[in-house]
Amino acid sequence: MIEQVRAQYEAYPYPPRDPRDEAKRLIEGSPSHLLEVNHYVFGGRRDFRQPFRALVAGGGTGDGTIMLAQHLADRGGPAEIVYLDISTAARAIAEARAQQRRLTNIRFLSGSLLELPALGLGTFDYIDCCGVLHHLADPATGLAILAEALKDDGGIGLMVYGALGRTGVYHLQAILRALVADEPDAVRLDLARRLLKQLPPTNWFARNPFLQDHLKVGAAGLYDLLLHSQDRAYSVAELAELVAAAGLAITGLIEPWRYEPASYLSDGALLKRIAPLDRIARAALAERLAGNLKVHICYAVKAARAATAVAQPQDPAMVPVLREGSGTGTAGDLKPGGALTVRAEGVEARFALPRRAGPILTRIDGRRSLADIHRDLAASEGARFDWPAFVEEFERLFGVFSAVNKMFLSRDINS
Ligand SMILES: C[S@@+](CC[C@H](N)C(=O)[O-])C[C@H]1O[C@@H](n2cnc3c(N)ncnc32)[C@H](O)[C@@H]1O
Repeated sequence: MIEQVRAQYEAYPYPPRDPRDEAKRLIEGSPSHLLEVNHYVFGGRRDFRQPFRALVAGGGTGDGTIMLAQHLADRGGPAEIVYLDISTAARAIAEARAQQRRLTNIRFLSGSLLELPALGLGTFDYIDCCGVLHHLADPATGLAILAEALKDDGGIGLMVYGALGRTGVYHLQAILRALVADEPDAVRLDLARRLLKQLPPTNWFARNPFLQDHLKVGAAGLYDLLLHSQDRAYSVAELAELVAAAGLAITGLIEPWRYEPASYLSDGALLKRIAPLDRIARAALAERLAGNLKVHICYAVKAARAATAVAQPQDPAMVPVLREGSGTGTAGDLKPGGALTVRAEGVEARFALPRRAGPILTRIDGRRSLADIHRDLAASEGARFDWPAFVEEFERLFGVFSAVNKMFLSRDINS
């Protein structure tokens, strides 16, 4: 089966990318944005000016590899990113992108992640495996192999398909498999296009407005979505089991707000019963409630250190960092005593912000620590705004901005 998967990605490297576009933009996303990695894997304490080794397992056309390599190059540390993929066509595109950016910190390898133990690559601080495990015959074995290659204090960023959000995909995959088995790709793609034009309005794929890859990503997208030879999807509970079986534990699901039932519900009686559930049970409930999670992105570390892997907002040395833009710009968009509204695939959520959201945000510049920000605010407000009062307010602000994946904590300004 791996031969069929390889053949697909040789013919349709995924996602399609033009290396010349590197001159115009850096594609950033999850997993593996360095701010996220530091926050959810290294407790915000990693100094990326020190040696750092990452593996991108199933690197495809290079999105994760290029982002990680660029972020690490920007920090100036001696990093090595090992790219590994079974598709040489995908690798050629990823290499051309790296050349465009003059990145010299990537080592490109062709091969299967299942062969990792024999490759003698050593261990890694971080492993990215985005959109790959669900295409393996045995994802659990694949993840176990990756976990073996992880340093004890390292972590993994994963993306797997979400079962509920992909409702309809597997119905069409089964129909197409029954109609066309071994015919050339052009025939299979043609039949897939014909089928899409004739779907009755009651078909689950037709009723799922969030499945757009076949419209946005051309033939490669259509093939990936409906004609893949090996593809499965996970519920949150199944993902947690997969991760646990490899001796790992999930430290964060991205974006966090989408995995909290309270983002969708306001009824007090319901929320009271949900509150005692653990994080994974709440996430599983949120997934069933929202029904629109097409993928699950998570960070995971060795189970023994899961409790200390995530950065905490009570540490005065932590520097809050916004993913995009400055705190001043963000604060400017907020109305006094306001709320932050987010939308994703058909749902909208509003999160109330604490009273001092604006004054705190304007002081967030990616350099000042929480202690600095508190000192500054206390100087203008007087002694009654003590550290515990600041922490209480910052925790509420951080709770919202972290949930929407806009704010991270980091002890080192270079990370
Ligand atoms: C959907 S693409 C994702 C690419 C990339 N990770 C990204 O997120 O943009 C899946 C990639 O996994 C690669 N792949 C599949 N099975 C693999 C295996 N056993 N070892 C290494 N790469 C594999 C495919 O060749 C393909 O490039």
